[in-house]
Order: sequence, then structure tokens, then C-alpha cells
Amino acid sequence: MDFTLSEEQLMIQQAARDFAQNELLPGVIERDDAQMFPAEQVKKMGELGFMGMMVDPKYGGSGLDTISYALVMEELSKVDASASVIVSVNNSLVCWGLEAFGTEEQKEKYLTRLSTGQSIGAFCLSEPEAGSDATSQKTTAVDRGDHYILNGTKNWITNGNSADIYLVIAQTDVSKGHKGINALIVEKGMPGFVIGPKENKLGIRGSDTHSLIFNDVKVPRENRIGDDGFGFKFAMKTLSGGRIGIASQALGIAAGAYELALKYSKERKAFGTEISNHQAIAFKLADMHVQIEAARHLVYKAAWDKDNGHDYDLSSAMAKLYASQVAMDTTVEAVQIHGGNGFVKDYHVERMMRDAKITQIYEGTSEIQKIVISRSILKK
Ligand code: CAA
Repeated sequence: MDFTLSEEQLMIQQAARDFAQNELLPGVIERDDAQMFPAEQVKKMGELGFMGMMVDPKYGGSGLDTISYALVMEELSKVDASASVIVSVNNSLVCWGLEAFGTEEQKEKYLTRLSTGQSIGAFCLSEPEAGSDATSQKTTAVDRGDHYILNGTKNWITNGNSADIYLVIAQTDVSKGHKGINALIVEKGMPGFVIGPKENKLGIRGSDTHSLIFNDVKVPRENRIGDDGFGFKFAMKTLSGGRIGIASQALGIAAGAYELALKYSKERKAFGTEISNHQAIAFKLADMHVQIEAARHLVYKAAWDKDNGHDYDLSSAMAKLYASQVAMDTTVEAVQIHGGNGFVKDYHVERMMRDAKITQIYEGTSEIQKIVISRSILKK
């Protein structure tokens, strides 16, 4: 078993680390405060190839493996989880879904724009009454021959306003249950497509989260992804890969908070010595270090499974479940180590603690990951 990263992977990791320090760190507190979308930074990430990392170069992508993607997600998330969720949704939910299941025409029309960062994508599954219970879609896509008529509301959509290409999951035939669900490509500006209000969130405040409203939106049939009724499986399969992205994000948030806490503990003095010399602090750092390393192994294993053609539904669920718990625990402890300074914005860790929480919720809550994991181990 070889745990060594390749030269190329190390280079990409370093590029992401440099980008995070030079381009994401300046202004991250202000963007969080003002709920400001990092438009300039996203444009630069497109130029660097971070927006379509796993996409075939013939569609404008970087043609990299999932491990490289996880490395980039970790480095970006150490500094700015708002920016990294934009990258994650675009890469693993939108680009990957289109490349894996789209037609050649769809790839040429949409994928190249998405993987170069000229367009941003959004993945629209959740609804006011269909979050975890994703088969209960109320949004309808009525089949009218050469087009579908789309009606309904989607909630909590990442990149809700900044996107211009939306993958929308909707029910075509209720009598068929999840087998009557389709995935449609919807473009911003299609008549009847309205961007709803922006959510005022606890964390990842630099990313824009909106509800979306569809009023008799006419979507051409050629915008359907896969065969009729493939929409739910499309969503599930795509989310399995998405969970590797969010697990990497959680890992990055944890690692970023740990690095800040470690540095602070060697500078801050109490009772005549650096606080790292007190066992109460040193043991916290030891626990954080072990948990982060364990999360990293689960994340890399899931990415490796995907790269090697193995099933990754189970490993991605385990990686997300564990890494998101580590993100939460580590950031709480990082605030504690910083004491009063941890409670104010200048030291970053309070933002990381707020950002960590969403990793236990989106792309399948921790409880949903336990459903996926328990079903998988029980059927063996
Ligand atoms: N790959 C392929 N097919 C899959 C699959 C997978 N990973 N998981 C399930 N399926 C298939 C099943 O095989 C089944 O098909 P058949 O009947 O043909 O066998 C079908 O899908 C329905 O599966 P279930 O019976 O297991 O469905 P369920 O109602 O019990 O739900 C669930 C399963 C795992 C709970 C699922 O509903 C789920 O994952 N829910 C969470 C949804 C979620 O992650 N939402 C996140 C929103 S997106 C987001 O957050 C993006 C963002 O902006 C950041």
C-alpha cells in the first residue's frame, strides 16, 4: 500500500495552497460579514482549472483524478469554505453529472463553459418538503413531446443566483414514484424561471444560497439527462461523488482550524509559559491531529475508490459522516484554545466553526449517511 502523493498531485496541492493564501485569505472576513460572493476569485479559479478538475480536457477540463480534486478542496477549505463549496458543487455535482450521463451535444454546449469557469452550475434537488426525503419531489416536469413544462420551487440552492446552468430534478410521472423523476438542464433567463430570495445563513456566507421558482418553464426535451425516469438515480449517483467533495471540504475546515490553534498555542502565554506547554491544550491538539488524519484517510480512500472504478457509495458516505463530525469537533476546540480571541472574527476560527456545521447537513445529512452506511453493511 502506497500512501505517497504523486509529483503532479503535490504540485496541484501547492498551487491550491498558494491560491488560498494569496487570493482567498485577503477579504475572507469581510466577504463572510457582507455575504459577498467571491466573483473575482471564482473567475481566477476557472483560469487555474479548479472549476472542472476531473473533466476531460476535450471539454475544457483539467483531466485530473479525484485525489487531486480532494487535495484542492482541502486547501481551499482551510481558508475559505464559502469559495470551496462553489468549487465543489460545480465540479462534482454539475460537471461530473453532465460528463458521466449527458449527451455529446449537452457536453459541448454546457460542459466546456462550466469546466472553464465561464459559467457556474447549480444542482437543484431539495424542495421545501423534500430535503432528506428526496424521492418526494413536488416540482413537476410535464412531458409535452418536444419539451417539458416545469413548475415548482427548489430550496437552499448553492450558487442559486450566481449560476447560469441549473440541473433540476423534477417529477414527470407520479404513478412511477422515483422511476418517474427526470433531471433537466435549465438555463438562467428561460421565461418563467425566477430566482427567489437569498438566504441569510449561519455559515458559508460568501456563497449565495437561494430558492428557485419555476412557473411554466418550457425546457427542450434535448435538455433531459439520460433516459426518461433516470433523474433520481442521476441525483443519487452524482451525490455519491459530491459527498467526497464535501468530505474534503470538512477535512479542510478542520485542518485549517487545527493549524491556527497549533500556531496560537505556541504564541499565547498563560501562567508563565506558552499554552501549548499545558497538558490541557496539548491533549486537545493531539486529539485534533489524530481525528484529522483519520478523516484524511477516509477521504482519500473514497477518492481512490472512485478513481479505480470501485463502488464508492459506502466509502463516500463514511468519509462525509466522519469528516464533518471532525470539522465540527475540531473547530469548537480551536475556538476554545483561542479563548476570548476565538470568539471574535479577526482570528478566523469562529467563522470556521460556523462553516463546519453545514458539512453535517448538505449533500445528505449525517443521519442520511448513516442510512446509506447501515443499508450497505446490512445487505452484505
Ligand atoms: N446510486 C444509484 N442508485 C441509487 C443510489 C446510488 N447511490 N442510491 C439509491 N439508488 C436507487 C435505488 O437503487 C432505488 O432504485 P431501484 O428501486 O431501481 O432499486 C432508488 O434509487 C430509490 O432508492 P431508495 O429506495 O434507497 O430510496 P429512499 O427513498 O429510501 O432514499 C436516500 C434513499 C439515501 C435516503 C436518499 O433519498 C438520499 O440520499 N437523500 C438525501 C438527499 C440529499 O443528499 N440531498 C442533498 C441535496 S443536494 C445539495 O445539498 C447540494 C448543494 O447545493 C450543496
